[in-house]
Amino acid sequence: MADSTKHLLLVEDEVPLREAVAEQLTDRGFEVVQADSAEGAIERLADFAFDVVITDLRLPGQDGTHVIEAAIKLYPDIIGVVMTGYGTVKDAVEVIKRGAADFVTKPFQFDELWHALLGAMEQRRLRTENAWLREQLEQRHSFEGIVGRGRAMQDLFQLLQTVAVTSSTILITGETGSGKEVVARAIHHASPRGAHRFVAINCSAIPENLLEAELFGHTRGAFTGAVGARQGRLEQAHKGTLFLDEVGTMSMALQMKLLRVLQEREFERVGDSQTIKVDVRVIAATNADLAKLVADGSFREDLFYRLNVIPVRLPALRERKEDIPLLVQHFLQKFGAELNRPTLTVSQPALRCLMTYQWPGNVRQLENAMERAVALSGGRRQVEVADLPPDIQRASEGEPFLYGLALPEDGIDFETFIARIEREVIRRALERTGGNKAAAAQVLNLKRTTLVEKLKRLDGFA
Ligand SMILES: Nc1ncnc2c1ncn2[C@@H]1O[C@H](COP(=O)(O)OP(=O)(O)OP(=O)(O)O)[C@@H](O)[C@H]1O
Ligand SMILES: [Mg+2]
Repeated sequence: MADSTKHLLLVEDEVPLREAVAEQLTDRGFEVVQADSAEGAIERLADFAFDVVITDLRLPGQDGTHVIEAAIKLYPDIIGVVMTGYGTVKDAVEVIKRGAADFVTKPFQFDELWHALLGAMEQRRLRTENAWLREQLEQRHSFEGIVGRGRAMQDLFQLLQTVAVTSSTILITGETGSGKEVVARAIHHASPRGAHRFVAINCSAIPENLLEAELFGHTRGAFTGAVGARQGRLEQAHKGTLFLDEVGTMSMALQMKLLRVLQEREFERVGDSQTIKVDVRVIAATNADLAKLVADGSFREDLFYRLNVIPVRLPALRERKEDIPLLVQHFLQKFGAELNRPTLTVSQPALRCLMTYQWPGNVRQLENAMERAVALSGGRRQVEVADLPPDIQRASEGEPFLYGLALPEDGIDFETFIARIEREVIRRALERTGGNKAAAAQVLNLKRTTLVEKLKRLDGFA
């Protein structure tokens, strides 16, 4: 079930050499993906946890050093081997210092490369601990404890840094478990209000009739059971931040009152006529589509605009797979420390499962899976596929070459989707053959005329 096949990324711009090496490696049981540039290789790496990367040093755009660096940054356990031309041995040594396992000089016999590769794999097997990711974690890839290294999260950190200093109302949207509350807390802590309170209230967890008193407070005897006067959450959050979770579930009547708070920063306790002024920043969160609720008439449009001053959208975990290795490391460290055990590493096949799975429960679900893995690990040092929950194990059972395939959020148009895949496959074939249609047709086992027809037809798809 777990795939024990070794996945290898081969980066070389010289087509005949690349194809020859790929063929030999495939014969020896490797699943080989080819790339002809550093940029292309780095893109592949973001999507897929390869076991090995073999790269030429001198490439058309960025050089192979970048490939090795990017690979090791993402996957500390990946094995990097460099192929280098005459006169660039010095550079190869430099790459070794940065974490590549070995190099071969061109021209080489395949056996030379093969031995370098076997040696590196053995060496790697012996090495268990790795300081790399940990260092990454501590450095720039987190903002107030939010982990994320991909483009989406880096952009988000920038936005959070900018909005934290303001007092603007923020609306955070995102699927369950995607980190809305973590983000709200991070904004609060990074803001000048950080020294004051962060008060959270979950609008869907409190019965509607009690929510108003909870928010605004009440006088003694304001309603049955109100034995004493009580401060509401709004007052408690004075000078700090009020976090309104699941704001989409609020009743229309209460929405009206909240609107007034946002406009005037004032309100009355339930059962009282005295107006109270507060200085709070409001951060609201929802996993519902508020704009849709507005369209349906169950959410006030004016309130929506008051809340949505700065929209922050948290991408689902499956949309930012490149964050998974770092999150995994983060949670393994966290749970290892909690259980007083050494931090576990994770095998590449296990990481492949984790990166293929669709994560409906997002980061929370990943966190739970890692907690479970640590608890089940016994004396072992590494998380294997078998330590993952069964549905996650099954994730990597599909076609290996389609691992990176993710179905978009709002579904697809089947015909267009398939057409795009066809076009991508053809594009890659043409890329490999330098635009030669006859040769590309051969790669695809198609008649040349069929390929040309397909190209014409596919032009119609966006
Ligand atoms: N980027 C992240 N880095 C580290 N931990 C994270 C990150 N995102 C989420 N988490 C962790 O995942 C769990 C869920 O996050 P959080 O409670 O913020 O999600 P949520 O979006 O509020 O979910 P819900 O909609 O179900 O309330 C928490 O334990 C949180 O610490
Ligand atoms: Mg939440």
